[in-house]
Parts: sequence; C-alpha cells; structure tokens
Amino acid sequence: MGETAVLDLGNGPIRLPIITGTESERAVDVRNLRSQTGFVTLDPAYVNTASTESSITFIDGEKGILRYRGYPIEELAENSTFVETAYLLIHGELPTAQQLQDFRHTLSRHSMIHEDMKHFFDGFPVTAHPMAILCAMIATLSSFYPEAIDPTKDEDTQLTVCRLLSKVRALAAYAYKKSIGQPFMYPRNELSYCGNFLQMMFAVPAEPYVVDPVVEKALNLLLILHADHEQNCSTSTVRLVGSAQTNLFASLAAGICALWGSLHGGANQAVLHQLHYIHDQKIDVKKFISMVKDKNSNVRLMGFGHRVYKNFDPRAKLIKRSCDELLDHLGIRDPLLEIAKSLEEAALADQFFVDRKLYPNVDFYSGIMYRAMGIPTNMFTVMFAIGRLPGWIAHWLEMKNDPETRIGRPRQIYTGANLRHYVPVRERTAALQH
Ligand code: SDX
Repeated sequence: MGETAVLDLGNGPIRLPIITGTESERAVDVRNLRSQTGFVTLDPAYVNTASTESSITFIDGEKGILRYRGYPIEELAENSTFVETAYLLIHGELPTAQQLQDFRHTLSRHSMIHEDMKHFFDGFPVTAHPMAILCAMIATLSSFYPEAIDPTKDEDTQLTVCRLLSKVRALAAYAYKKSIGQPFMYPRNELSYCGNFLQMMFAVPAEPYVVDPVVEKALNLLLILHADHEQNCSTSTVRLVGSAQTNLFASLAAGICALWGSLHGGANQAVLHQLHYIHDQKIDVKKFISMVKDKNSNVRLMGFGHRVYKNFDPRAKLIKRSCDELLDHLGIRDPLLEIAKSLEEAALADQFFVDRKLYPNVDFYSGIMYRAMGIPTNMFTVMFAIGRLPGWIAHWLEMKNDPETRIGRPRQIYTGANLRHYVPVRERTAALQH
C-alpha cells in the first residue's frame, strides 16, 4: 500500500490509502471504510467529496485555472472552435485535420430532426419555458433511435453522440421559433455549427439570412467556455443517472433539468432579471450592493460566487472582454452592461465579497452577449446546455467505459423515529381525544 492516512475510530488505528492526482490533488480513499469500520462519511453537498477520478477537465479554484484535457481554456478560446473542443473533450485528443473534417461531416449529416418530432412542438404553449421543451425533446429523441435505448447494446455510440450534439441546435431553435410564432428553419449544412444554429434561430423564409462572422465567433467562444467544468451539479447528475445504465438521451435530459436551477445554469437568466430590476427601478448600484449584504433581504448577486473558484473565474474574464468587442461591433450601448460593470467594481472593492471570495462567474456577463445577439433571456440556459453537451457526453462515456463503474448509491445517517408498531386508526383517534 502506498501513502496512507491513519484513522482511529476507537477500535485502534486503521490505514486508508491516499490517492494523488496528476495535478497533485490528494484524497483519502474511503471506498472500504464502511466494510472496515461500519462508519460512513457525511458530507452534505459533497463539498469535500470526490465522486470519481476523471481525466477530462482540471480546475484549480484558488489559482483560477481551467483546462480541458490539459489545454488551458485561454488557448482553446483563442485558437479553437466549439466543434474541435467538443471532439477534444469526447475523444481526449485534439483531432487531426481528417478527423475534424469527418466529425464536422457527421454532425452536418445529422443536423435535421425527424419530421414527426415537429408535431410535439404543436402541443407546447407559446409560454412554455424552452428548458422544459429541451429536456422533454432530448429524452423524446430516444424514441426515434430504439437501437440506442440500451447503452450496453448501442453498436454505434459515436453516432448517438453526433446525433445529440447536432440535433440539439434544431430543438433549441425550434423552441424559440415556437415562442414567437415563426416557421421552423431547416438546417443549412454549408454553414458552420454555430452559423447553422444562428440561421435556424433568426432566419425567416421570406428573406435571405447572412451569418455575421463576428457574432458567429462570439457564439463559438461562449460555447467553448461552457463546454465542461468537471463535477458540477448537472455533470454529476448525468454521471449518477448514467451509472444505472441509463441511455445517453435520458442521462442528458437529467443534466438539462439540473442545469435549469437558478443557482446553476439558470443563473445567467437570473443575472439579466436582476440587471433589468436595477435598471427599471432606477436602484443605485451601491444601494443594491447593500441589499445583497443584508442577510434579511435574501438577495444574492447572481452571477457572482462559485463553489470551486475562490479567485476569478477565468471564463468570466474572457467573456467580459468578448462582450465589449461584440457590442462595439454591433454598435450597441447596453445600459445593463454598464450596470453589470458598476456592480462588479463595487463588489470587488467591498469586504463582504472579498471575505467570502465572491467573484464574477461564467454567468455574470454571458447573458449580456446572448441579449446582444438577439437571444431572449429565457433561452440563456438553453445556450448553456448546448455548450455543456460535449462535457456531459464526455463524462457519461468516461463513466460508461470505466470497468470500475458501479451504480451510484450514496448512504445516509438516519435521524428519524426509532422502532414503533402500527396502531389501528380507531385507537389512534381515541388516544388523541383523551
Ligand atoms: C455555475 O459548479 C460549477 O462548476 C458550476 C458552473 C459550471 O460551469 O458548471 O460554474 C456554472 O453554476 C456558476 C454559478 C452560477 N450561480 C450563481 O451565480 C448564483 C449566485 N451564486 C451563489 O448562489 C453561490 O455562490 C453558488 C451557488 C455559486 C456557490 O454556493 P456555495 O459554494 O454553496 O456557497 P454558499 O452559498 O455557501 O455561500 C458562502 C457564503 C454565504 O455567506 P455566509 O452565510 O457565509 O455569510 O457566500 C455568500 C453566502 O450567502 N454568497 C453570496 C453569493 N454567493 C455566496 N452572497 C451574495 N451573492 C452571492 N452570489
């Protein structure tokens, strides 16, 4: 046994293995703790618990480091595309030119959804939240590919992966078109992944649509920056659901549901609601900051803070810079961006935020960019899901292909009633009346 930790629970010391990762992170391996001692560990929200070993993404929250398969997010943001980054996350290596061309071709060939799927959209009210539509339609996609329902028998998992990566765009764009009463636009496969999505979102049959290359580049960046983030809430959900040998469609639908929460992927939508509130109510930024600091107000500065980053979120820095470039290109002076910048400046200078290590996260500026692109606020978390899809898929595959994978089943510490016996209702009633 290599390096060990010594634990004495009253019956003499036992030794637990210490695991060290390739970036020198260390863990006490407690996988045999209960069989050795009868004890379990208790760690609400898994703040101190590693659920798995993974080679996909590395985050150093203290140093603000994020790397996909070892490549710094800054270098991928500068040099890569979302399709290439998706390939890297899923396959573990950057593709050769041929591999990238083949991947792109497969994604294009599977960009359309089955014509019958369009009828499902007729049943949704125009007010349906697009996240409700997306999780329903991703799960429903499985009904058109029965051969992929049992992941242990899916002959071509990579085809399933490409179908999901490609078709998510049409499902998202159709959710938007449904909400504005416009006709669905078929994919145009001569366009890039992002260009094709933009035209499905904003083109109309009545006139030609030309993709703005600056908007296309900005969307590529946003999707790259959202592509993975190790064991966050939604990714852990995908892994847990997938550990039951649940198919990829249903595992991703579960991840979409987890992402919907306002403390997670729903935060980008919550940030815009908060900026609109401050703007429309003409609230002074300093006054709003004092509301956030007042525990009784129950107001959080959405888009700020992070479980892992106790320094800046590297994605927020890249998004903020790209945000300025995009709005300058589009000739937009967005008052909400000015409010966001004032909030950041005020918060970073305030001891309340400094003491709690609260910095802007990926959600703080991303919504301003989506808004500038013409994407409505309730579609922001859908955009997060499109970006995160390759990361979820990479983790699902890593879990599925790990021979040590077992169904995830945490234990608990029971704090309820001790043994008691059934009392017939007439006796219960009588007891209550005395
Ligand atoms: C994402 O995990 C990931 O990697 C997620 C993600 C990804 O890529 O998958 O990065 C995407 O989800 C980013 C986070 C988006 N959520 C928000 O922006 C919502 C606002 N932020 C928070 O609610 C909060 O910061 C969390 C949820 C992100 C993290 O919560 P933690 O780690 O559980 O921290 P906490 O709630 O225990 O807060 C610690 C303290 C508390 O104060 P005290 O009780 O100690 O006095 O900090 C305070 C909190 O009240 N606090 C905030 C705050 N976030 C934490 N106070 C005001 N505003 C905030 N935003």
